[in-house]
Amino acid sequence: MFGIDILHEEHENIRKFTKYVRKVCGDLIEGEEVKTEVFLACIDFMKNYADIHHHGKEEEILFKAMLENLGPIADKMVNMGMMTEHNIGRYHIDSLEKAVASVEGEATTEQKVDMATHALAYADLLLRHLEKENTVLYPFAVRNLKPEIMEKVNEDSKIFEEKGAAKGISRYVDWLNSVYREN
Ligand SMILES: [Fe+2]
Ligand SMILES: [Fe+2]
Repeated sequence: MFGIDILHEEHENIRKFTKYVRKVCGDLIEGEEVKTEVFLACIDFMKNYADIHHHGKEEEILFKAMLENLGPIADKMVNMGMMTEHNIGRYHIDSLEKAVASVEGEATTEQKVDMATHALAYADLLLRHLEKENTVLYPFAVRNLKPEIMEKVNEDSKIFEEKGAAKGISRYVDWLNSVYREN
């Protein structure tokens, strides 16, 4: 089931990313010098991998198929649940980006607090969000979407992946693997 499998695979990368973000913020709280470049690399991953690539694929393909075919329950799960969380995630990315952009030279305590607040809130939100999708939303879609609709989800996901590959999406996974440590 390509369409669902690829989303699960991306969740594992996002899970690793949230752990890295917690490490970076932990260092910041402990008073280590954390360069703004580190946060800029995180923002790049949040925007282009987690949001545009992963959430974009969910919204354009799987959520769309659910909304068109699975009635009011899907509408509640997708629009009241998952889409709301995607949008809160966007708010935290935007706020983190503003906090990082305001830094000139060494970050002030206030700027550090803003960076840690939004980076950690984003990581916590995404972790809980992907858990809900893994355990509730995706299984619901798999159980209820007709085989021909799921086949269309698979086909559209393959096309989406080809476009992502052409834009070099694998560089985000390479970057993550270069900074991520298990412990
Ligand atoms: Fe999602
Ligand atoms: Fe997701």
